[in-house]
Amino acid sequence: MTATVQHAPKEQGRPRPGGDGPSSEPAAPEQISLPRHLLSAGDLNRATAEHVLSTAQRLEQAIAGREVRKLPTLRGRTVVNLFFEDSTRTRISFELAAKRLSADVITFSAKGSSVSKGESLKDTAWTLQAMGADAVVCRHSSSGAPQQLSAWVDGHVINAGDGTHEHPTQALLDAYTLRRHLGALAGRRIVVVGDVLHSRVARSNVLLLSTLGAEVTLVAPPTLLPVGVQSWPVQVSYDLDASLVGADAVMMLRVQRERMSGAFFPTAREYSRSYGLDERRRALIAPHGIVLHPGPMNRGMEITPQVADGAGSVIVEQVANGVTVRMAVLYLLLSGEIETSSGGSL
Ligand code: CP
Repeated sequence: MTATVQHAPKEQGRPRPGGDGPSSEPAAPEQISLPRHLLSAGDLNRATAEHVLSTAQRLEQAIAGREVRKLPTLRGRTVVNLFFEDSTRTRISFELAAKRLSADVITFSAKGSSVSKGESLKDTAWTLQAMGADAVVCRHSSSGAPQQLSAWVDGHVINAGDGTHEHPTQALLDAYTLRRHLGALAGRRIVVVGDVLHSRVARSNVLLLSTLGAEVTLVAPPTLLPVGVQSWPVQVSYDLDASLVGADAVMMLRVQRERMSGAFFPTAREYSRSYGLDERRRALIAPHGIVLHPGPMNRGMEITPQVADGAGSVIVEQVANGVTVRMAVLYLLLSGEIETSSGGSL
């Protein structure tokens, strides 16, 4: 049986990091409702988020059995990777994901393009439009750039990280990784630690993990928590040791020194002492607990090499899962259809 996935307008009325807090609007009925563009993890209701994750699982199984790790699904479609800001994991994994689905892929870096001659985002968008891009994967240092782009192109826009706003596919790959180790995330206690203020990864994870029913605790120095965090669907703590006891997972965030213009903490050493994850702290989480980091890591600052490379660390697995999850996102947005029976033909 095949079901058509509806591309729906953005869901309204949920508490949003950086948003206006809880709304009294009734919750939308739980049905799969894929947005036309993936700009925010908040665009996905629970049924849709679970659908993306189960699609990723089926794509992984479909690829695993093949000598040539490729599916013909997106043959003839064009995916443009539009990266105005540096990236290793996201850029490469989107490229690999599109290639594994047999799409034509163009990777565009602002460096070396006409952007360096002053070309605007709008003119760049029109150029992509003229070339018939079916999907545009956009990373930009300005929050909101992918949303702006979505007004100018006909293709599907996927936010690959915009400023300090969101990184929805990172949250999806994190949820995929968490589910592989912990099963369903409802009621699981996940501690997110570090530079929440500058972290698009934290914002998208808070939205998605709360949608999936997890209990999220944010731990950071007060200077690295955003104004309005009280309205987010999370607990907030300044005490890392107490928060880690019995946690199902701990997600460390990179200290984004490139986005810091002032002194947000006294010294790097002081930060590590209060908010870094070392082996003593790692031992406080549940025996089955896992350690995540989106990368790139500041080894020795927010996480010690012993923990990053040690037991329970799933950091390398997160990178591998990024390809699978981004395949699912491209597949669902571009095909709009998915086999819903267990005998699906992915
Ligand atoms: N996690 C992440 O977005 O990494 P990159 O900046 O390398 O893409």
